This record gives sequence, structure tokens and C-alpha cells, in this order.
Amino acid sequence: RYRDPTAAEKMNPFAEQEAWEEHQIGKATLKYGSKNKKQMSDDYQFVFEDQIDFIKASVMDGENIVDEESTKLLEKSVAKSALEKLQEDRKTLPIYPYREELLKAIDDHQVLVIVGETGSGKTTQIPQYLHEAGYTKRGKIGCTQPRRVAAMSVAARVSQEMGVKLGHEVGYSIRFEDCTSEKTVLKYMTDGMLLREFLGEPDLASYSVVMVDEAHERTLSTDILFGLVKDISRFRPDLKLLISSATLDAEKFSDYFDSAPIFKIPGRRYPVEIHYTKAPEADYLDAAIVTVLQIHVTQEAGDILVFFTGQEEIETAEEILKHRTRGLGTKIAELIICPIYANLPTELQAKIFEPTPEGARKVVLATNIAETSLTIDGIKYVIDPGFCKMKSYNPRTGMESLLVAPISKASANQRAGRSGRTGPGKCFRLYTAYNYYNDLEDNTVPEIQRTNLANVVLTLKSLGIHDLLNFDFMDPPPSEALLKALELLFALSALNKLGELTKVGRRMAEFPLDPMLSKMIVASDKFKCSDEIISIAAMLSVGNSIFYRPKDKQVHADNARLNFHTGNVGDHIALLKVYSSWKETNYSTQWCYENYIQVWSMKRARDVRDQLEGLLERVEIELTSEPNDLDAIKKAITSGFFPHSARLQKNGSYRTVKHPQTVHIHPSSGLSQVLPRWVVYHELVLTTKEYMRQATELKPEWLVEIAPHYYQLKDVEECTLSLSLSLCACV
Ligand code: CDP
Ligand code: MG
Repeated sequence: RYRDPTAAEKMNPFAEQEAWEEHQIGKATLKYGSKNKKQMSDDYQFVFEDQIDFIKASVMDGENIVDEESTKLLEKSVAKSALEKLQEDRKTLPIYPYREELLKAIDDHQVLVIVGETGSGKTTQIPQYLHEAGYTKRGKIGCTQPRRVAAMSVAARVSQEMGVKLGHEVGYSIRFEDCTSEKTVLKYMTDGMLLREFLGEPDLASYSVVMVDEAHERTLSTDILFGLVKDISRFRPDLKLLISSATLDAEKFSDYFDSAPIFKIPGRRYPVEIHYTKAPEADYLDAAIVTVLQIHVTQEAGDILVFFTGQEEIETAEEILKHRTRGLGTKIAELIICPIYANLPTELQAKIFEPTPEGARKVVLATNIAETSLTIDGIKYVIDPGFCKMKSYNPRTGMESLLVAPISKASANQRAGRSGRTGPGKCFRLYTAYNYYNDLEDNTVPEIQRTNLANVVLTLKSLGIHDLLNFDFMDPPPSEALLKALELLFALSALNKLGELTKVGRRMAEFPLDPMLSKMIVASDKFKCSDEIISIAAMLSVGNSIFYRPKDKQVHADNARLNFHTGNVGDHIALLKVYSSWKETNYSTQWCYENYIQVWSMKRARDVRDQLEGLLERVEIELTSEPNDLDAIKKAITSGFFPHSARLQKNGSYRTVKHPQTVHIHPSSGLSQVLPRWVVYHELVLTTKEYMRQATELKPEWLVEIAPHYYQLKDVEECTLSLSLSLCACV
């Protein structure tokens, strides 16, 4: 409840109704779960039936509450031409008054840590200031982002502000997509891409400034970059290094970079009211939807931002919200639903930044990406279910898994802060105050301490860094995890016994993919099916956004999907079939619609595939095709993924072969009803159970044939006699 009904409302059974009318004519009104439900139109009753109770717990004290001046400045700039307006807008950002001071500090120091609240203008402004001050005459300015969507959207914004075409002076580079040219002087890129640039340019000679942005996110690539840029800054005194972060504990960064000075941009923030639920919510997705609707019909104008854990959840929420608002009738203002997640096609991403039309309300359904990397203006309400998707890694078993986990207090506060940027805000936490204070960790554990390091180790080895245990990590990974990575790379034949890069390893490092995928591609040479394998790799890289399943057409969608699984070929081959069929139709969009396939995912897969084809040439692998020899294709897959093999148990679950653990075939898999005796899988996801996503049937003797150093006969025994015989033959 936001407040109790007034006496007048209690007296007048139609008060609620009138309140709705008021709402409609634009007067903000509050609305409650009410005893007068009966009088209301059936249309919106549901909103109150599953009303969620919140309690207002505290008001976050705005450290620097905004003065009216900046608001006026904003208003003044409305009637200008677009470019002029953008220029005026730049001057209203919190960072603007500190422009000269900042430039001076950068001039005076080689390494500078910059701290400022999200939205203060660090990412969009600092590279422009440096450009205006002439730094780009000496070399590019590179600015890293942990997320691809952020790199793209920030570059787009900056190119607008500078009035240039995206990809010319301002560009971005993310995996499988390079939107830069010779002209590019401001280059936004993912941290992973800068890491890869070290492979071609170990001293980053073409850069005058490197800004490691969003440093507080502490992604794996950012952490590795820290070590590398710190190292090169010693022999490149002309290279400026900026470490920018949205959180206040910058001392750690400063300490790491030999006591680099910290430049703090005073933030502006309006107060944010925090509301907690009275009791824990069993279903946060549903609770979030109910809360969106509650806000929409009861709270004054202002956009809503909801944090979800991933694309699937966002799509579900989007569908339910569309469905439910349809029932609201014309009395309620329009609710514009804007999803945003990493795999969303670029055209749709721009939608979240479009100003909300008068009289309507926007609800942004976002992943963690909106926590600090993206600032969306106009957000007044934040709904925080308190979860995010996290990678977790068990260095003992070498198993990596994606799971939905509670966020940290630091994250919760960042999320809440998103609502108080342009006016006083409200944050609705879908968990209790007790949860917040007692259950949430203070900070998120850096990724380097909870992930598989094989990829990074391969990159570092390619850079000639051998002594990994003594690498200058800000927070070292568990040594077990490092050893596990070395072990895996050895098993994949990327490293030899001495831990040195092999020819296979060198080839693998050329691919911007996880080592197992790279190995699968390199191995496809031997099985003469590189053509098919790069299609599969491309489809796997696109993620789980190939098929869609609209709520009202689930049966049709499932049937369409099962068509590709004819013959129980397994998920990898099914993906290949999807790709080949699409190619046969000359990449038809219509065909995608008919088969419930996302056309933009396919286009992305095609781009990725094109690039992989280019890389094949670079590592001198011929493009060869064995479309009908499914075993050859499966063997190539197994060559990369043999550590991910599992055997069927009597109860229908599976057990991984090397480090026994119970896993299950994901319900979305074409093999979920087939349950072959042996499978090789792409990845594990932990939801209600530990699921294998993308599985393919495997012959156990392949394991011994392909990875004799990894699997012994005893690992795959209990096979049929004929099998043992064939094994004897091959041993
Ligand atoms: O990096 P930081 O969080 O300090 O701020 P920023 O990303 O540079 O954002 C500064 C301003 O640019 C904010 O008002 C954003 O709303 C705006 N912006 C935008 O309109 N579109 C983008 N794609 C990125 C930023
Ligand atoms: Mg930023």
C-alpha cells in the first residue's frame, strides 16, 4: 500500500472510479488495493488482486542534491536545433564544470583514476574533451566497456554529439563487429576487444589514451587489461591511462596503479525513496510485472526501469505485460515496453533512448546492463527483483555454470540510484529489508575469481606471458583455477607439457572464441568439415535467441523447431540444418517467420560465420564440406568439447564422465525426450537443475580415440561387447 484511502474515498464508493478519471485527465493520483474493487471496471481488477505490499523503509540521502539551476539550463535548451541542443546538453552534465581541471590532471599525471556517479558524463564526455584538447593528434583514444551494447550505444551517442557519422571519427569495435575506419580517433570497444588488440599491437602504439571505463565492474577482461596496461605504461610514458569507475572505493584502483591520483566528479542526485516488500516474493517475475502495473496506474508520470536476469526473462515479461495492458482499456495511459539486453538487434536498442511521448509511460525491461553502463533519461521508478545472472566456476571440477544469484548491496544501490537522476525517484525492491541487510553481500566477487580462465590463459600465453602465477593481478584468481585452465588447454593440445603454446594453440588463439569452440574449428580440418563446423560455431555464438516461441503459438513454434531435429540428430546438427536451410532460401526473412526463427539472430550468425571463414584462411584451414557425414561433424565437435561429455543414468539423468556430477538435458533440447546413452554438450546452466544446453549424441569410443590423454578405456567401459571390440581394434 502506498497510502491509506482518505476518508472521502471511504465514504464514496465511486471515489476510486473518480480517481481513475482524474488520472486520465492528467492529474497524478495514487491508487490502492481497495475495498471498492467491485465498483471498478473488470478491466483492471487484476492489478489489485495480486497487489504487492511494500513498506517504505528509508530515504536515500542525496549527497549532492540538484540545484534548480541545472534543471533550468536543461529547459532552456529545448527549442534549439538538434546539434545545438546536444551541445547545450553536454554543458548540463555534472562533469562539465570540471572539464578544465580534469584536462589539467590528465596532463599532469600519466595514470588517473576517475570516479563519478553513473550518468555524470564520464564515458561520453572525457574522450571528447581529450579530442578537443588535441590528444587525438598523437593517436587514438580507446575507451573500453564491459558490455557490447554499451560500447555501441555510447559510440552512437558521441558520434551524434560530434555531428559525425558513426564509424568515421567515432567508432566502436565489439566481437565480430568492427565499426571503425582509418578516420576513427575515438574508439569505444569492449574490454575483451582491447585485450585482443594486444595480440596485434603489444604496445598499443596507435593509442595516445586508453580509458578503462566501468572499472568497478571488474570483468575478467578488465582485470587482465589492468595488468597489461600497467605494464606498458612503464615503457610508454606518452600513453595516458584513465581508470574510471562509478563507485567510491577507488582507493583500490589507485593503490594498484602505484598510488595514481583520484579525480572525483561530484555527483548530483535527487533523493530516492526505497520500498521493500513486506514478505519475500516467491515469483519475482510475476511480482515485477504486478509492480509495473501498480506503478503505471497509481503513480505520477515518469518512466520505469525493471532489472531482469536475462533475455528469456525479459521476453516473457514483455509478453505478459503486453497481454495484461491490452486488458486495461483506454482509460489508462499507454505503456511503452522497451526491452534491452545484449543480443537485442541494434535497431531496437535505440528505442530505449527515445523520449517518451506526452501522456505515455515507458517501461524499460533491462538486464544488468542498465545498472551502470547505460543511462536512460527520464527514469523515475526502479523495480529491483534483486537477482542477476552470474557465472560461477568450480575450479575443482572445472565446471562452469550460469546461474541466477542474488545481487550485492553495491549493485542494489546502483540500481536504486538509476531512479534519482532527473528528479526524485522511487525504488521498489522485491525483497525485504531484512534480506537486504542480512543476506546480500557487500560487493560482487570479481569475475576473475569465479570463472573459467582457459580463454585468458590462452591469450596471455599468446602474448608471451608465461609466468601466470606471478602476473600482476589486482585480485589473483584461485591458483586452482589457473591450474585447471592450463590443464584444459593441455588436454585440448593448445599447450605442450612444458606449458608452451603449440601450433594448435596458436591457431586456436586466432579465434575470438572460447578455447573449446576454437579447438572444434581447428579440429574440423582433420575431419574435412570446416564449412559445417563454422556454421555451428556461429550459431552457438549467437546464444539462445534463434528460436522464438510466442505464447499463443507455442505448438506451432515447437513443431517448426522439431522439424530440424528429424532423425534425432542432436542440437548442434539441428542448428546447422537451420543455418543451411536458411541459406538455401537465399537468406529469406519470410522463411524465418514461417519457421519461428528470429531473423536478426540469423543475420548475426551469418556475420559471425563470415568472419570465422576469414579467420580460417588466416590459420590456413581449407573450407571443406562433409554435409552428409554427420559422424565427421560430431567428431569435430567432440574434439573441442570432449571434456563436456555425459552418460545416461538409469533414472534418466546424466552423469558427467570426468568429474562426476548429475546433470540433465535441457527441456528445449531436441534430445530431451530421446535420452541417448552418451552426449557431448555445449554448456551447463543452473536453473531448477543443472542443465546441459545444446547436446549431441556421442559414441563413447570417440572419446578415447580423440582424447586418449584425457579418457582411458575405464572411463567409457560398460559399453557393449562390439564396442569394446572396436576399441581393441583402435588401441
Ligand atoms: O559514463 P557516465 O555514466 O558518467 O555517463 P555517460 O554515459 O557519459 O552519460 C552522460 C549522458 O549522456 C546521460 O545524460 C545519458 O542519458 C546520455 N546518453 C544518451 O543519451 N545516450 C547514450 N547512448 C549514452 C548516454
Ligand atoms: Mg559510463
